Amino acid sequence: MSAFKIKDGAYAVGVVDWNERDFHGSVYRTRKGVTYNSYLLKDEKTVLIDLVRTGFEKEFLDNISSIVEPSKIDIVIINHIEPDHSGAFPTIVKLCPNAKFYGTQKAKEGLFKYYGVMPQNWESVKSGSKINAGKRTIDFIDVPMLHWPDSMFSYSAYDKILFSNDGFGQHYASNKIFDDEVDLAILFEEAKKYYANILFPFGSILSAKLGAILKMNLEIEMIAPSHGLIWRKYVPEILEKYASWAGQVCQNKIAIIYETMWQSTEKMARKILEGITSQGIEAEIFDIAKNDRTDIAAYLLDAKGIIVGSSTHDNEMLPVIAAFMQFFKGLKAKGRKGLVFGSYGWAGGAVKEIEGIIQNAGGVELAPSISVQFAPNAEELDNCFKVGQAFAKSL
Ligand code: FEO
Repeated sequence: MSAFKIKDGAYAVGVVDWNERDFHGSVYRTRKGVTYNSYLLKDEKTVLIDLVRTGFEKEFLDNISSIVEPSKIDIVIINHIEPDHSGAFPTIVKLCPNAKFYGTQKAKEGLFKYYGVMPQNWESVKSGSKINAGKRTIDFIDVPMLHWPDSMFSYSAYDKILFSNDGFGQHYASNKIFDDEVDLAILFEEAKKYYANILFPFGSILSAKLGAILKMNLEIEMIAPSHGLIWRKYVPEILEKYASWAGQVCQNKIAIIYETMWQSTEKMARKILEGITSQGIEAEIFDIAKNDRTDIAAYLLDAKGIIVGSSTHDNEMLPVIAAFMQFFKGLKAKGRKGLVFGSYGWAGGAVKEIEGIIQNAGGVELAPSISVQFAPNAEELDNCFKVGQAFAKSL
């Protein structure tokens, strides 16, 4: 990608990482790739907003150079220090010796710890701080824990653009720039997946911050995140979705997630699903050994019910569902209903273990669990059906 004009004097100068598939280590499976967006505002002063990941510096500098010589950049804004946005920091510090850098105090401390360098001219900012670049004034809005302590948004009233960094992002590599240029259903699904895998645990903080930002009555024509497409046509829609996701507003739907050894637990899962289906409630089954937890997190984001199952192995749950439960604990889901099930040979263990994790995590009201020895017989399968029915009715 090269630089792209998004408004008069405002350019997208970031890069596309078409083949990135494992983001955050192995936490987030990015099947549609990733972009590291950066923006350049050309005014009396030239402003660079956010950087790119290590390894993409040359393409990034080429994009900037097509608009302005990098050494002429006057202002660099660091909205967030996670390495996908700050990897080029040492390069930019070196190539822009006259620039003044802005970010939160936490950003300053974190950047030095990451890279061991600091620009000569750094100013720590917070909500209420603003800088002038000519026709443009840039306002800063700190958004701590959305999703790191250093995170902030920047807003240009002149452009009516909110530069939201990770907020409102999507892991969606594209040669398009705006929301109305791609398939909207896919875009919203990727935005949901992104929210579920990056911001899910921070819903209450986000609700409060979104409320505060809306009260500022900012004119927002575009939300320009640092990942994925820029929102220009669907700004109200994505704001509404964020309010709903942050509020953990759930639909009457159920995720059944399990791992199985000899298909006994799987048979139980399918009978529970039949029971749910008989009540007309939406549900999906995920064999955790065959599905990405990235997708499951997105389904869980607005699912009222979560049903988890595992065979018992060495008195424990199976290892892939164990990894999922570790991940689930961190999501801090609230206001859900849950059920645990599983099969065992001579001694159980998996069901109790899963129950314990869900109870410790909080936020999920558990129905009585069900277990069967070896393989479910006709009577036990009938019970699974009835349990599924009752769970669907309880939502
Ligand atoms: Fe896209 Fe928190 O980094």
